[in-house]
Amino acid sequence: MHSKITIGDAAISVLKTACAVDKAAISGQYAKLWFDGKLLFDFQTPPPKRPARPDKPELLLPKYMPKRRHKGRQDNIIALLHAIAHIEFNAIDLAWDIVARFGKNMPKEFTDDWVKVAGEETQHFSLICQRMHAYGAAYGDLPAHDGLWQSADDTAHDLKARLAIIPLVLEARGLDVTPAIISRFEKTQDTESAKALTIIYTEEINHVYAGQKWFHHLCNIEKLSPEKTYQNLVKQYFNGSLKPPFNKAARSQAGLHEAFYLPLLSK
Ligand SMILES: [Fe+2]
Ligand SMILES: [Fe+2]
Repeated sequence: MHSKITIGDAAISVLKTACAVDKAAISGQYAKLWFDGKLLFDFQTPPPKRPARPDKPELLLPKYMPKRRHKGRQDNIIALLHAIAHIEFNAIDLAWDIVARFGKNMPKEFTDDWVKVAGEETQHFSLICQRMHAYGAAYGDLPAHDGLWQSADDTAHDLKARLAIIPLVLEARGLDVTPAIISRFEKTQDTESAKALTIIYTEEINHVYAGQKWFHHLCNIEKLSPEKTYQNLVKQYFNGSLKPPFNKAARSQAGLHEAFYLPLLSK
């Protein structure tokens, strides 16, 4: 029954699904159908400007987010897991948006790479939801940061800018901070959460790898310097500054070398 569905339509269905449980379920199903060869490689319609979102969590601007201080240890763990779940939930939409928006003008392997990312982000979201359930909590219980989609919106017209900001700034930042979160869970004897974050960390290296791979591909075609182009795009589209210390080993493993990001510190 899925034989006539295109990957473009599949991506748009995920983006247009509001309920978190349903979005994750169809995202996982479509990723599997793609790799089983059940979807057509075609794109008819552009994706929505913003993906559909559930009623909960309430989305707040960062300045209105409640502070985590003066709460119990378990509340702090739940707040941390909730913030990670929110990032992974956005990452599902980000991966399908890149497929739906840019897949058409790129080799099929581009779609393969980002559908694989979409499938992994779906698993990351589910893993973190399971950890929240172990604490009697669920995604949607707390307010969440609004603004994660802003970078996607700002770069919707330019794939090089999209890749520079989402995988090569934001997901790379995830590689910098995740090892400390894993040790924090190990210290609190929450080995299940530490294990979930370790899976996420390993797979995120591949997401950054896919980002730099396609960024280089585009720079090669246009005969641009990848490092200079990255630095210019980050200055233009990233509202903030890069925060050291960097996880140089993980970044290099993903092909994101210091020549890309270190010069951005000395402006
Ligand atoms: Fe992820
Ligand atoms: Fe990712």
